[in-house]
Amino acid sequence: MNTAVEQADFFKTLEEKSDGGKLRGDYSQCDDRYVVQQDWSAYTPEQHALWRKLYQRQAKLVPGRACDVFIDSLAKMDAADEIPRFDRTTEALYKATGWELVAVPGLVPDLTFFEHLANRRFPVTVWLREPQEFDYIVEPDVFHDFFGHVPLLFNPIFADHMQQYGKGGLKALGLDGLTYLARLYWYTVEFGLIESPQGLRAYGAGILSSGGEVEYCLSSPNPKRIPIDVERVMRTLYKIDSYQETYFVIKDFQQLFAETAPDFAPMYERLKQQEALSASSLLPGEINLPPNV
Ligand code: PHE
Ligand code: FE
Repeated sequence: MNTAVEQADFFKTLEEKSDGGKLRGDYSQCDDRYVVQQDWSAYTPEQHALWRKLYQRQAKLVPGRACDVFIDSLAKMDAADEIPRFDRTTEALYKATGWELVAVPGLVPDLTFFEHLANRRFPVTVWLREPQEFDYIVEPDVFHDFFGHVPLLFNPIFADHMQQYGKGGLKALGLDGLTYLARLYWYTVEFGLIESPQGLRAYGAGILSSGGEVEYCLSSPNPKRIPIDVERVMRTLYKIDSYQETYFVIKDFQQLFAETAPDFAPMYERLKQQEALSASSLLPGEINLPPNV
């Protein structure tokens, strides 16, 4: 079966979904899975220096704020000094959990993304943000993808969860469930919090690659922090241009794996009958956990 998504179709979908729909990556060289060569030697010394600055700022923020898995993996990844070579990281990652990194020009079609995950391949964007985007970028770049997402892939349970998510995505495409599954991804893989004996910690990549949200999500009195319930998460709208108004909290990765294991098909059917919840809602009976002190 040929499931490759034509670039023309991909860009047309993007255009319909968002204003303009232009992506900044160079899609002229990619294969039918949207994979490119990383071309590591093309990065400039200025880009490596910018990476170093991003890395150093973030590495200082994560102790006491990121979950242990993230901190431990990051230390092993040897990515502090320059934009990493994906093939070297893949060597270590493959040994740890059987995952590979593949280089991509930027966002890829949903189907393509899910197929990579379902086959234990994580797509990492090749380009780096510009200096004036130090604190905020609109599309994910290599710093977000690599620094934010790759460390957790060294954890066997999380690694299995990501593969299951990929398979679940392929399934959701046929069930009209993508809206719901995307919310789950947002509130877990991108913006999830996890309990630890010392208090709440972040495991979501959107938090861990952000200079401000990594502190805000744990310490601010403003956002809600609600113990996870998968169907509730999939009902909840999210913010893409501000800090989150709600974070969902897991006890451990085992819980995330167990909560997402059931067949989502009946949930999608129920969700289609309901109104979505606003990003700041707290339902009767729900617990709002206190911030870390
Ligand atoms: N269990 C989900 C389904 O049946 C798939 C899934 C697994 C989704 C893990 C997210 C994470 O569709
Ligand atoms: Fe991401």
